[in-house]
Amino acid sequence: MRMSLNMKQHKLQTLQAMGLGPVWQRRGLAQGVEHEQGASVQSEESLHHIAALDWQPLTEMIASCQQCGLCQGRKHAVPGVGDMQAQWLFVGEGPGRQEDEQGEPFVGPAGKLLDNMMVAMGLERGKNTYIANIVKCRPTGADGKDRPPTPAEAAACMPYLERQIALIQPDVIVALGKSAAVYLLNLDPSTAVSSMRGKIHQRQELPVVVTYHPAYLLRDPSQKKQVWNDLCLARSVMHELQ
Ligand code: URA
Repeated sequence: MRMSLNMKQHKLQTLQAMGLGPVWQRRGLAQGVEHEQGASVQSEESLHHIAALDWQPLTEMIASCQQCGLCQGRKHAVPGVGDMQAQWLFVGEGPGRQEDEQGEPFVGPAGKLLDNMMVAMGLERGKNTYIANIVKCRPTGADGKDRPPTPAEAAACMPYLERQIALIQPDVIVALGKSAAVYLLNLDPSTAVSSMRGKIHQRQELPVVVTYHPAYLLRDPSQKKQVWNDLCLARSVMHELQ
């Protein structure tokens, strides 16, 4: 049976007392980002609507979303995949080419590595795990290459992830890379991943552990040990909450 929110809060406070607590660098993400690069923040009415959606209408709304310019280049929106009652939520940046083609997150080389990372933790894609992204449509630059989402694109898309989190009610979120970390934790986008690792952050009541993005790990395998430490930290938080 799942632990009550109060008990989880108490456990988290214990972990924080062990020096693993969060860093707070809050900033007003939604401020001043309206209409930047063709993205607009969701209206109050739309936010209320999304916050009440169940999975199917939420997925349909994501598939037909035109809240930012990323919709123009998409083949498929990529809402997420996995167990809708997962205790583990992994959040990446945004779909790449293969994800855009298949409509599923992390299906390319970085996805294979993510699958292996999950297996090393004793987990499996789709079983007690859910994988989502900060933005649901592929961000590309003028050169056609993948790029990180802009703050405006992230703000426009965030209500969908917020609704997914509310529906799933995970116990632990693993933020994969900088975009996931800064937009989940509402931090300054210039914050380095290295400074966010090794701590238990909190998004509302939920513990968030930050690690390097698997695509970065493919480019720099020397960071594997660091990532493993982060995954062990996430696992220890989960064990504390059991
Ligand atoms: N990188 C991400 O951040 N997400 C994906 O779905 C694929 C690659």
